Amino acid sequence: MNATIRAVVRAALVANLEVIGFQKGYHGLLMPESHHETLTTRSVSGILQRGGTFLQSAREKRMVEKEGQLLAAGNLKGLGVDGLIVIGGDGSLRGAEALHRLGIRTMGIPASIDNDIPFTDMSLGVDTALNNIIYAVDCLKDTASSHDRTFVVETMGRNCGYLAVASALACGAEYALIPETPYDLAEICRNLRRRFSEGRDNSIIMVAEGTASAQQIADRIKDSIGFETRIMVLGHYQRGGSPSAFDRILGARYGVAAVEALQAGESGKMIGLSCGEMKLTPLEKVFAVGRRPIEEMMLKLARTLGI
Ligand code: F6P
Repeated sequence: MNATIRAVVRAALVANLEVIGFQKGYHGLLMPESHHETLTTRSVSGILQRGGTFLQSAREKRMVEKEGQLLAAGNLKGLGVDGLIVIGGDGSLRGAEALHRLGIRTMGIPASIDNDIPFTDMSLGVDTALNNIIYAVDCLKDTASSHDRTFVVETMGRNCGYLAVASALACGAEYALIPETPYDLAEICRNLRRRFSEGRDNSIIMVAEGTASAQQIADRIKDSIGFETRIMVLGHYQRGGSPSAFDRILGARYGVAAVEALQAGESGKMIGLSCGEMKLTPLEKVFAVGRRPIEEMMLKLARTLGI
């Protein structure tokens, strides 16, 4: 997110536009005096390599209600804001759509490690989260192989299994249990036992949080074949850390594209990465589709590799 804010500020200033940032997003916007600050190149210097967002973020429930949306629109008009760029997932983007309907020019940028937002190949933060997972699982594999252990690793993603399946591919995990495809734990247990009899007694099982908890899977394996497994719940670790090169560049592209789109008079749209290009999609259409499915290519690759 910092890479995106930096790009927005730099691109806007070059175009002689003034930029303000709302602290904690909609939360700051809805404060009585609205918590905001003028952003200069100085405000965004040294933030590119930092995870999270220097403006901070909050889940603001009031933006779901008409009252909150009207207050936000009023505050934006009062401040003389000509365009609002919203970086976030489903909730944040719905707020942008509501404000667009109230006459505020808005532009959405998809940011969610879940990678569940449609009309973009990659949401901001996904690649960094994947790299975090890979680092953790690589470390775990050293213990798994040295101590002959099976690990069940729980990834985030809400109801989307993207992080689990993509990290399983990237880490060489034995299995990925995701909400999108059925799995047969009895079969997995049989395979674990067979592997054990062949002398391969360490395995990594990735489980998406939307499927089950790592503990539930570990308990079921123990009940079924008596194997003691260890679990690792990656939790919020996945969402932090220095962004990957891919995310920094994607963030810069999203930020510049958002400024350009607002300047061109666009509103109520989301910028997405589509086959390498920046594409605009009406937010209405984004919500009509709902959730982005995992690419069939990815699922097929996992199947072919026996994951
Ligand atoms: O949507 C992003 C996400 O990190 C999900 O993967 C996860 O389920 C959820 O947010 C965690 O939310 P919170 O930070 O509010 O606990």
